[in-house]
Amino acid sequence: MTSVATDVLIVGCGDIGERVARLERSEGRTVAGLVRSEKSARRLRVAGIRPITADLDAPASLNNLPVKDAVVYYFAPPPDKGVTDPRMETFVSALTPSNLPKRIVLISTTGVYGDCRGEWVTEDQPPNPQADRARRRLAAETSLQRWSETSGVPIVILRVPGIYGPGYLPEKRLRSGEPVLREDESPFSNRIHADDLARICIAAARHGHPSLLYNVSDGHPTTMTDFFFRVADVLGVPRPPAVTMEEARRRLGEGMLSYLAESKRIDNRRMLEELGVELMYPDLAAGLASCFERCG
Ligand SMILES: NC(=O)c1ccc[n+]([C@@H]2O[C@H](COP(=O)([O-])OP(=O)(O)OC[C@H]3O[C@@H](n4cnc5c(N)ncnc54)[C@H](OP(=O)(O)O)[C@@H]3O)[C@@H](O)[C@H]2O)c1
Repeated sequence: MTSVATDVLIVGCGDIGERVARLERSEGRTVAGLVRSEKSARRLRVAGIRPITADLDAPASLNNLPVKDAVVYYFAPPPDKGVTDPRMETFVSALTPSNLPKRIVLISTTGVYGDCRGEWVTEDQPPNPQADRARRRLAAETSLQRWSETSGVPIVILRVPGIYGPGYLPEKRLRSGEPVLREDESPFSNRIHADDLARICIAAARHGHPSLLYNVSDGHPTTMTDFFFRVADVLGVPRPPAVTMEEARRRLGEGMLSYLAESKRIDNRRMLEELGVELMYPDLAAGLASCFERCG
């Protein structure tokens, strides 16, 4: 693997990675993106990002990563199964003392808080993951924190809720007519627009306090049902039927039911105050409107 220096390395350079890369490049920084497939590598090349093709499930492919003094954004998801994140373990094991980054920003999830019965949640809330996908994210946070303590490299962890924006809308689900939960039984959902998230990642790299966690959210949670209804309205498709929890248990898949079992409202004050972020899309109305201007 080539180790030509780069200012920025994005590990798991998918949709959010490309948005971050665009912003970093517009400020004159060189950006490399680590992806698994050749198809994604071609996409990066077209976007002016130097591709590095490697597989976080194959430790030998990660030799000599160009991380020295670079800002690293770690956006790769954990594997689909289990309660740990061996990909994060593999990544940090590949970073030798003579080849250390300047800082690492990790996208984690607000799912690590588990169910908070609709309460407002600050970063002081102890994690209590209830789904394995959240346990894997918490394991990734823990691995990275431990590595940071021994390596001395500062890290910033962002706990991110549902991402929405162009390419992230649940159009297929809405067109299928799959039901949603009745509004009065629906949990809160928290969201961030993909473009705001990219800007928050950059603010975290520049101003994030090492060893602190930051909740990410637009600060305007509404119910999950409200989200599906509003997206249906802007897509111009019928609102999905609303059913009771009892019926939802019979008709919805395990994945969706696990989301419906958790309710919380994410407090984003630390993000706004300490990272100095001004949101372009502080609520769903603004974010959805912008999305359709772009999508055409
Ligand atoms: N969607 C949400 O609502 C939400 C909420 C909270 C957090 N997140 C997390 O936010 C992060 C960024 O999201 P995104 O939409 O930008 O994700 P994305 O578009 O799916 O990009 C993920 C990237 O990770 C790479 N990757 C996956 N497995 C890999 C492996 N084993 N080795 C090397 N690279 C690997 C993929 O490469 P290939 O394309 O080559 O496979 C892809 O470039 C993800 O971790 C996501 O799970 C999402």
